[in-house]
Amino acid sequence: SGLNGGARDWAQGFDLDDGHVAEPLLALRDRALAENWDAGPIIGGVETKGAGQPVLAPADTKRRVGTITNATKADVDAAFAKAVAAQPTWDALGGAARADCLDRMADLLEQNSPRLMALIGLEAGRTVADTLSEVREAVDFCRYYALKARESFAAPMPLPGPTGELNQLSLHGRGVFACISPWNFPLAIFAGQIAAALAAGNAVLAKPAEQTPLIGAEAVRLFHKAGVPGDVLHFLPGDGATVGAAITGDPRLAGVAFTGSTETAQIINRVLAGRDGPIATLIAETGGQNAMIVDSTALPEQVVDDAVISAFQSAGQRCSALRVLFLQDDVADGMITMLKGAMDEILIGDPLALKTDVGPVIDHDARELLVKHVERMTREAKILKVAEVPAELADGSYFAPHLVELQTLDQLPREVFGPVLHVIRFKATELDKVIASIRKTGYGLTLGVHTRIEATANEIFKGLNVGNSYINRNMVGAVVGVQPFGGQGLSGTGPKAGGPHYLLRFATEKTFTVNV
Ligand code: NAD
Ligand code: ALA
Repeated sequence: SGLNGGARDWAQGFDLDDGHVAEPLLALRDRALAENWDAGPIIGGVETKGAGQPVLAPADTKRRVGTITNATKADVDAAFAKAVAAQPTWDALGGAARADCLDRMADLLEQNSPRLMALIGLEAGRTVADTLSEVREAVDFCRYYALKARESFAAPMPLPGPTGELNQLSLHGRGVFACISPWNFPLAIFAGQIAAALAAGNAVLAKPAEQTPLIGAEAVRLFHKAGVPGDVLHFLPGDGATVGAAITGDPRLAGVAFTGSTETAQIINRVLAGRDGPIATLIAETGGQNAMIVDSTALPEQVVDDAVISAFQSAGQRCSALRVLFLQDDVADGMITMLKGAMDEILIGDPLALKTDVGPVIDHDARELLVKHVERMTREAKILKVAEVPAELADGSYFAPHLVELQTLDQLPREVFGPVLHVIRFKATELDKVIASIRKTGYGLTLGVHTRIEATANEIFKGLNVGNSYINRNMVGAVVGVQPFGGQGLSGTGPKAGGPHYLLRFATEKTFTVNV
């Protein structure tokens, strides 16, 4: 279907349609499904595994992926002590040597692709195409930040001055950074944050999402294998309210790279502001209320393909995903009919199977939130279409793609994180009202526009404060170094992940002046 075809485009380097490539890759992946993935905190390079708690597969919640032993407050304290002591040496090593570690990490990720794909598919319920593009993105983050570290952190920048005076500016790590990540990109975002913090010369305390700690542990093991010292990178699994709060409340922390919900970012912001110690940096990449605006000049087939990919790829569990499709009323009925038809083609199923378009949502709690949202929509809006979840998937946390018609965007006060696409009709004379309603949400992550009138695209682009705008294409799958990714307002602080300015926010600057 178009949905999986879109994903394949992003899986740069592999053609999943070509059995000659896909079969050996999937055979290697399948062998890794049976590995023992149990994990625990990794402090000073030493991993401690106790009895642990089971980590269950979203696709079959009776299936145990492995066990996780969570970090204690004493573990957090020990990790801080080691990280504080080790950071100056790591910083002094310089950008070039740190970049070498990241390049080795990229090599290791590539060599371990089938194993990582197995674990992401099992633990996060991501489809084959998603797991492949996720490993690719993690590799890209490592190589891109290595490149940027060599450019800006390897040698001081010479500055002008009077004869007889030397002036230089150098970039350094800030100290100990916390990297706190979500479950929806359990490898790419987790490893990307860590790679950036390390590249800039920081020591790192990495806290994965509670739903996906096993992939986080494997990534940290690989970072260590790539040459990152055990005392520089520590792994602290556990939930946000205990382990996350213990890390962010500690006065030894110099900064936080956070990706997750807007609400959690606001909590962390308050904690950082209220604690003693140095003023900490917060980099927050959060949610969105992402819209696509379609006028009557748009190409219907392309709109439908792009809307389906943007809304339902990854079961709608991308921060970038399309949530609200604004359709000009002259073309709305036809497009809705085509959207319904496309939804009939979506194959919902086991994420480990190549043919599957849409897998499960992350867990039963996430499904419950979506069920409640649809119940409200049934009362307050109009359900246009519900795709079909096969009955044999009852043991997984599956949720069918839905198409819902709203009257106004006010009916959707916050992000709905799953495969629910809302449509709103507008008249040609109401474009300014549409723009105003999107601005009013306060979010600004992604935007899609489908029009053949350049002036319309420009008017919408200029009228909205949105991090990533996509014209006449889908609006997910930003590529590192090509579409630097991140939002504004309630959607994040910037700078953009995978962009040229990202590492600078992890760094502090020193000016060096010598009277020679
Ligand atoms: P979440 O906010 O619930 O959790 C994210 C992380 O924060 C987890 O590791 C969690 O344990 C931790 N956390 C929770 N409470 C904490 C606290 N009090 N102190 C410290 N840490 C705490 O988000 P989620 O459900 O894991 O992820 C989904 C959300 O992430 C969506 O809103 C999505 O839009 C957003 N997201 C944004 C981007 C982006 O780049 N903008 C990318 C992916 C996901
Ligand atoms: N960076 C991811 C995307 O663009 C979230 O879909």
